Amino acid sequence: MTELTKIVIPVAGLGTRVLPASKVIPKEMLTVVDKPVIQYVIEEAVAAGFKEIILVTRPGKESIEAHFQPHDELEAALEQKGKTALLASVRDILPADVRITTAFQNQPLGLGHAVLCAAELIGDDDFAVSLPDVLIFHSDGDHAHDLRAIVAAFKQNHAAQIMVEPVADDEVSSYGIVDCGGAVFHPGESHNVIAMVEKPAVGSAPSNQSIIGRYILPARTMTLLKETQPGAGGEIQLTDAIDALIAEMPVQANSMQGRTYDCGSRLGYLIANLKYGLDHPQIGARLSAWIREQDL
Ligand code: G1P
Repeated sequence: MTELTKIVIPVAGLGTRVLPASKVIPKEMLTVVDKPVIQYVIEEAVAAGFKEIILVTRPGKESIEAHFQPHDELEAALEQKGKTALLASVRDILPADVRITTAFQNQPLGLGHAVLCAAELIGDDDFAVSLPDVLIFHSDGDHAHDLRAIVAAFKQNHAAQIMVEPVADDEVSSYGIVDCGGAVFHPGESHNVIAMVEKPAVGSAPSNQSIIGRYILPARTMTLLKETQPGAGGEIQLTDAIDALIAEMPVQANSMQGRTYDCGSRLGYLIANLKYGLDHPQIGARLSAWIREQDL
């Protein structure tokens, strides 16, 4: 096992589920209340201890990297006006010891292919993968709790960790699903995975435990990804490479304790804005009062 400092965040997707909003603006740059979705995901990674954020991107999505770079003109203007809180909100997004690097995915060949595009930057290191559509919310405000928990479980159990949550039986075909041999999941627990299947047909899934998009994986996964053939939807699937990993080392599904908010769909994005809006220290109480006044 190597030190876990690297996290791969694939951002090269076309965002077809949220068109036309994502025609020019990357879907990762759409805002939830006052921050782009990608900022929440990167803040979660940083709070869980990751130091190298590897964005797998494509031409046309440069605004994602730009958001995390200094903006001299804006910062000078805010400084001159004495707007210190706003200045801090644009200048101090990342701690000094965290860096963002990029790899390119020039063809949309699937999530597994996107992760493989980061192979050179990962080298022989174990790594995490975080999918930027999904925000994780914890009622205690520590939104990195689950990611930190799977990092700890990876180190303690010497097993790859896949974060899961239950979905309705008729929704399994939208997700990767884990087969843990009927294990009963309590929040926070990890169970050994027997098999994983990407987007099974309704009625044929081995369970309703869905992969939510946070993974801790051994370096070996990259080699397996190179050998992975196109699977569901004709795409190279990360799920299939991890399924192959099961023959070589333990892979565990970890039942998350927080709640997911899927910003990659219109309804999910709207609900995320409401949830994070209600939780916002400056506007939450007024939003809540407004909702209660509505004749719903
Ligand atoms: C991807 C993964 C899938 C996972 C899902 C979570 O699918 O392939 O296993 O359940 O993310 O959002 P996608 O949503 O990119 O089709």
